[in-house]
Amino acid sequence: MNTNEFMETEDNPITSQETLEEDLAFKGLRPQRLENFIGQEKIKENLKIHIEAARGRGEPMDHTLFHSPPGLGKTTLAHIIAHEMGVNCKITSGPTIERAGDLAAILTNLQPFDVLFIDEIHRLNKIVEEVLYPAMEDFGLDIMIGKGPSARSIRIDLPKFTLIGATTRAGLLSSPLRDRFGMTHRLEFYNHAELQQVLANAADVLKIELDKAGAKEIARRSRGTPRIANRLLRRVRDYAQVKAEGKITKEVASEALRSLEIDELGLNRSDRRMLEAIIKQFSGGPVGVETLSAAIHEERDTIEDLYEPYLMQIGFLERTPRGRVATEKAAEHLNLLLKKNGKEAVAQEKLF
Ligand SMILES: Nc1ncnc2c1ncn2[C@@H]1O[C@H](COP(=O)(O)OP(=O)(O)O)[C@@H](O)[C@H]1O
Ligand SMILES: [Mg+2]
Repeated sequence: MNTNEFMETEDNPITSQETLEEDLAFKGLRPQRLENFIGQEKIKENLKIHIEAARGRGEPMDHTLFHSPPGLGKTTLAHIIAHEMGVNCKITSGPTIERAGDLAAILTNLQPFDVLFIDEIHRLNKIVEEVLYPAMEDFGLDIMIGKGPSARSIRIDLPKFTLIGATTRAGLLSSPLRDRFGMTHRLEFYNHAELQQVLANAADVLKIELDKAGAKEIARRSRGTPRIANRLLRRVRDYAQVKAEGKITKEVASEALRSLEIDELGLNRSDRRMLEAIIKQFSGGPVGVETLSAAIHEERDTIEDLYEPYLMQIGFLERTPRGRVATEKAAEHLNLLLKKNGKEAVAQEKLF
């Protein structure tokens, strides 16, 4: 692996997975109460009512599905709901539950009203998923006893619980599973003011000197995502510590982000490389995602989960039935000329 690849995959503030160290560093940043969760007002209002109603009736909250691109607060909301309900939050994920028995063990170990959080729930396998149906619907677990003609199934009662599922791809969820959630919430990208608030709170917790203009500068380049805002804050802090006596102002933030190759809109080298490939190699598109993935050596999932949602949000990329298309706006941002010429599009570097 060369250093370049290392930069692109391991150290990329947009794509890198949350490391254990980061998870610990972020723990203090995770709001514990609904009222401290910034933004997503509609969802908060909704959850508040459902939590209160469930508590009033002495019942667990309805099963809830959150979907959004990564880093927008799905896991945080699951913890908050458990906290507000005064119950435990058991955490697992779709790919780690391999067999029906694994899920049965998790379910039978729940305490009444617990929250069971299943991250990446779209990656549950079919057999495991089928165990989940009666559990969600009737709080029951069907177990086969014996073999051959004498085999029979018995039902075990489970404690009542709340399943919270999170997914980056609601479209990949099977419809029987989707139908068993009482509520589905889609988290939206955050606006700059909200991200500024996320940053101000994080700076408080981490005891970082961050002025308003500095926070605004980082917020602007965080591609609508609290996780990225928090990450950039930590990067900028390092820079400030070495070069500016620890104080983060607009200039310091701007300089630090430039050195990280994060541009005015929060795009990094990988985003720009992808757009550039579509414009230059594929004449602006449409290009199929598999072809694109091969051309830029990125996993299809990374492209779909991490790059595309934000690029579409800012109007740089469109998804068409025939593939991905880069827009004029994207070409302009990259200083490339996208010249549509009849059906064929010709892209060339602008001449200066
Ligand atoms: N609304 C919010 N207010 C404050 N911090 C947030 C908010 N949403 C997310 N965060 C922070 O961003 C990080 C990523 O959030 P997380 O819940 O793990 O996202 P997801 O599960 O959707 O990938 C966490 O460290 C969390 O503290
Ligand atoms: Mg998560």
